[in-house]
Amino acid sequence: MSTAVHNTKSPRQLYNIAKNLGIWDPAKIDLTEDKAHWQMLNPEQREQLIKTCALFYEGEVSVSDTLAWFMLAMPDLDRRMFLSTQIFEEVKHAEFFERYFQEVCGKVDTSAYLVPEYKGVLLDQLRQRGEAIGQALTNGRTSEVPLALSLFACHYMAVVEGTMALTGYEFFEDLLAKTGMFPRLLEGIKLIRSDEGRHLVHGMDFLREQLEQHPDHVEPVRALFMREAENIPRRTDFIFTPNPLGLDRDRIQQISYANHAQRMREAGLN
Ligand SMILES: [Fe+2]
Ligand SMILES: [Fe+2]
Repeated sequence: MSTAVHNTKSPRQLYNIAKNLGIWDPAKIDLTEDKAHWQMLNPEQREQLIKTCALFYEGEVSVSDTLAWFMLAMPDLDRRMFLSTQIFEEVKHAEFFERYFQEVCGKVDTSAYLVPEYKGVLLDQLRQRGEAIGQALTNGRTSEVPLALSLFACHYMAVVEGTMALTGYEFFEDLLAKTGMFPRLLEGIKLIRSDEGRHLVHGMDFLREQLEQHPDHVEPVRALFMREAENIPRRTDFIFTPNPLGLDRDRIQQISYANHAQRMREAGLN
């Protein structure tokens, strides 16, 4: 276990910040400019952008739907207070992408992009981790709750938010840097990213604390981390095959591994 000094913000401080910064309104972002840029893309380029936005949308809906299990079982009041702001923010992130499809990309069946390498981690397995918390709570198996919380935090905060989403933001930043297009998409992403910063600080702090208090959680959490590292190349391939927007696949994959390694360090695993 790492003995690094942790000068992270407390759940109560994060809650207080969220009350001020987490209240931006996705409905107030004017998407007109992006609509004009969309018309300039060819069908293959549109497909690659839709693919990434669709996975973000599906992911945001899924995290919004599952986080309540985690909040319900959380023993600490300050953490529950913070998590109530996180649920609200995740719902707004889904709303941003919903609106982006309605106003910029047009009608899209986002679920069509849920190939196995994304559907499992974003939807099915995340829901199972939430339900495992719920079952332990409602069946009176309270001794199983702490491990279910640790695995949920690793899956949700370290993998989905702290590795996949954080890497996905780079895709949008590269797109804007390379083409000078889609500034409103990036505006939304920046606001989402700042909310996600709080989610991540809270989640990784909780996971590190859990692993310190329950050394028997270290191995199952480490195993989950290692399994998810193996999935990074396949998930990157899905986004970049083909790559008509001409973005840098290898750079994005390196960022993904770097994010994964950083989350392991924050959890106290090396
Ligand atoms: Fe989110
Ligand atoms: Fe989040």
